Amino acid sequence: MSPKMGFVLVIFLLCSSGALASDPDPVQDFCIPNTEILHSNFHQCKNASAATVDDFVFSGIKNPGKKLGKSDFLAMPVNAGVFPGLNTLGMSFVRADFGPGGINVPHFHPRATETAFVLEGKIYSGFVDSTNRVFAKVIEKGEVMVFPKGLLHFQMNVGDSPATILGSFDSQNPGLVKIPNAVFGSEIEEELLEKAFGLSSKEIGKMRKKFGTQHKG
Ligand SMILES: *[C@@H]1O[C@H](CO)[C@@H](O)[C@H](O)[C@H]1NC(C)=O
Repeated sequence: MSPKMGFVLVIFLLCSSGALASDPDPVQDFCIPNTEILHSNFHQCKNASAATVDDFVFSGIKNPGKKLGKSDFLAMPVNAGVFPGLNTLGMSFVRADFGPGGINVPHFHPRATETAFVLEGKIYSGFVDSTNRVFAKVIEKGEVMVFPKGLLHFQMNVGDSPATILGSFDSQNPGLVKIPNAVFGSEIEEELLEKAFGLSSKEIGKMRKKFGTQHKG
């Protein structure tokens, strides 16, 4: 092979492995975390003979999750932390409940694509691509929308009654970055925020108070 061909091949392999990046494949049938032993941030697996059917069943999403702050939005993330059977399987999900008018603020998941299936209600639902083009519409019970990995997305209950969605992620640890909190609730230097948003020190202070750590959510 010529050096040039080799170079092209390496670039191709780098690109294709990037495009296919996902959680690692499991190396055993399942791995119920042994919560007593934490090994450099990963739990070891319990002896498989100690696993029971209840490790593979999660009943906690029969009911809505916790109410976050004042917003009429409740989220219950379901990951290996609460549902041990999911560990190492490369997926997780979330139940989200919205009161009428309730919103899920613009946010993104750095490590996962999400499909959001509407179980109940009418939800204005959308995402923004990397050219700032928005793809959004109202979807109803029985419909599903996909939010591509890493892209900003948002939802709002536009019906008169409560709405519920089931979001599914192709990662066991999708991550969650809420834009208002990441920008105003973190400790970015105030001068930079003033310049970036054309806001006064007083206005930035207001945003910080609203989205600061004590009001996360
Ligand atoms: C797992 O449990 C089985 C049955 O109790 C036992 O025979 C086996 O040695 C255990 N394996 C390990 C790695 O501890």
